[in-house]
Amino acid sequence: MTTRAVVRGVGHYLPERIVPNAWFEDKIDTSDEWIRSRSGIERRHFAADGETTSDLAANAALEALADAGIAAETVDALIVATSTADLTFPSAATMVQHRIGMTGGFAFDVQAVCAGFVFALAQANALIVSGQATRVMVIGAETFSRIIDFEDRATSVLFGDGAGALLLEAVEGAGTNADRGILATDLHSDGSHRDILYVDGGVSTQTTGHLRMQGKEVFRHAVEKLADTAHASLGKLGMTGDDVDWIVPHQANLRIIKSTAQKMGVEMDRVVVTVQDHGNTSAASIPLALTTGVRNGQIKEGDLVVTEAIGGGLAWGSVVLRW
Ligand code: UT7
Repeated sequence: MTTRAVVRGVGHYLPERIVPNAWFEDKIDTSDEWIRSRSGIERRHFAADGETTSDLAANAALEALADAGIAAETVDALIVATSTADLTFPSAATMVQHRIGMTGGFAFDVQAVCAGFVFALAQANALIVSGQATRVMVIGAETFSRIIDFEDRATSVLFGDGAGALLLEAVEGAGTNADRGILATDLHSDGSHRDILYVDGGVSTQTTGHLRMQGKEVFRHAVEKLADTAHASLGKLGMTGDDVDWIVPHQANLRIIKSTAQKMGVEMDRVVVTVQDHGNTSAASIPLALTTGVRNGQIKEGDLVVTEAIGGGLAWGSVVLRW
């Protein structure tokens, strides 16, 4: 028997305010046509004044608990993947732990920017497989609208706010690829690429800072590294793109999503795409897409799902799981 981390429930939360591409047109030199054609983005959600990352995360987590029919007191670990926590400390995770009524266990944040949810899923899997936890809430939540430079047309049009959550539970499997749950993970980072995607501020510099990105360079790394990591995690299982029912990629750019799917030999009708509605929500993008894929009937129990993401660091990776 092999212990597997199986998805028991999903939830998500998007702030009420929807901002269409046209909103930017009288503020910076851009157009709806440019944003759609270069990124696939049509709209994004921005958090209301005073609405924080832990607010978004708690709403998503409560929905995942309800979906699973599981009480918060029985969850023994909670991880929030975020780069935009409410405060320097405590972690967003401990705030969410309290908000959802999780009275025991432990909670912590993971910071791997847009790859954060993949990193958090891998950590949740490690906690479950090693017997340190049996029920783990994994949340990706961001308010990137707070770190956008609204005068920079190269970045401001790309990002949005939101949160998604998965509740994972330890289940005994047969130890084969037919098991439900997380089957393989593959994580990487390379700090030498710091300057192509970063925030020019932080606690130690006593500023919040703004997101800075050399888009073309990040794009180049993304199209190469995302297919590589997806192949690597599938390869650990002796699998290929042919075995995949759904790719649920980080939603940064439709052109990157298409290129990765093509390299994996997977048709676009087996890829969950939400970038048009959410923009790039960093660590929240994959759980938002997973929830959307489940809700609209795409992802079903037993399907083989591959998630992959890349972001600042650079940090990148993938997770293969059977739903
Ligand atoms: O989630 C973390 C990972 N992030 C990503 O994966 C993002 C990766 N990068 C990208 O998605 C793309 O590089 C962008 C969408 C950011 C940009 O697309 P691109 O095809 O690489 O465009 P570009 O940066 O090469 O810019 C092309 C032109 C430039 O004008 P010139 O120099 O050719 O005259 C830009 O100044 O488009 C111009 N441009 C814009 N024009 C209208 C840049 N931003 C805008 C804009 N509106 N918002």
